[in-house]
Amino acid sequence: HPIVAYDVRPDELGDVDACMSRTGVEIIIRNTRLELAGIDDLPETDAVSILGQSIVDAELMAALAERGVKYLSTRTVGFDHIDLDAAKNFGITVGHVTYPPNSVAEYTVMLILMTLRRMKLVMHRAQIQDFSLMGSQGSELGNSTVGILGTGRIGAMVANFIKPFGTRVLATDPYPKSELEGIVEYVDLDTMLAESDLVTLHAPASEANHHLIGAERLAKMRKGATIVNCGRGDLIDAEALISALESGHLAGAALDVLENDLEYFHRDVRLGTIRHRNLVLLRSFPNVLVTPHIAFYTREVVSAMVEQSVDSLLEMRKSGTSPLVVGGAV
Ligand code: COI
Repeated sequence: HPIVAYDVRPDELGDVDACMSRTGVEIIIRNTRLELAGIDDLPETDAVSILGQSIVDAELMAALAERGVKYLSTRTVGFDHIDLDAAKNFGITVGHVTYPPNSVAEYTVMLILMTLRRMKLVMHRAQIQDFSLMGSQGSELGNSTVGILGTGRIGAMVANFIKPFGTRVLATDPYPKSELEGIVEYVDLDTMLAESDLVTLHAPASEANHHLIGAERLAKMRKGATIVNCGRGDLIDAEALISALESGHLAGAALDVLENDLEYFHRDVRLGTIRHRNLVLLRSFPNVLVTPHIAFYTREVVSAMVEQSVDSLLEMRKSGTSPLVVGGAV
């Protein structure tokens, strides 16, 4: 049987070809998202690979099961676009990938520095030959307290990257890491919010984490603090964030993710109408840098996404499971 891969971008094709040569398994490619409306287009297969654009809800999961799909792998770390309860009900095993955290961690450090140095404003000004200084004054990372929400692989790497600047690093996580001793001080969320000049989010999206940073918690942040999000859009209540920026309580933000961002990100929608008011509004602030869910996007990561997804599906096919399985029928 072939593997069927959805959401495949042209830049993944080389890696898909390499996987086919290496494994001898055919991979049928779709450049569209996997959705109920197009389910008749699904070739006969037990194994499907997707990206974050394909939202697999209970209805779609049922349709997949009905067509004989047993293994579903997302070529992403996050799997909040997949209904794991439904997967369990319909007997589908679900896996993700765990590409190295370097790309997102490096990107986060870049956004942290860009935010502290007001780089969106500076670049806009330079572009129109406004080389003045007023309003562009920044602050130093080494003189800042940074709060890291979530010290999984990415958050921990960000902590290690920024510590040598001289930064005081606070962190919250339900599972503190002993190897971060001397690098971060674990505190409770309220303390972290109250004491940080900048908060960076590295938690997964889940029901419990939905709008974890809402109006109340934004109010607990330091006046003049900034927030960076290279994790998941759902972690922030965007409307509350907009209010905190409008009131001047927060000095800025850098957001690589927004709720439902993949409805627009990773596509050229210049000629379209954006029906995502938070995206449009946030993008318009001179002190809010919005980038299109691109922190992951390096050569290294794309290869790992394709390879791990294909290898994991083959492993599931062979043994019923794989180390990358996250739920469903396990
Ligand atoms: C992830 O790997 O979780 C990402 O956010 C990557 C993106 C292609 C959806």
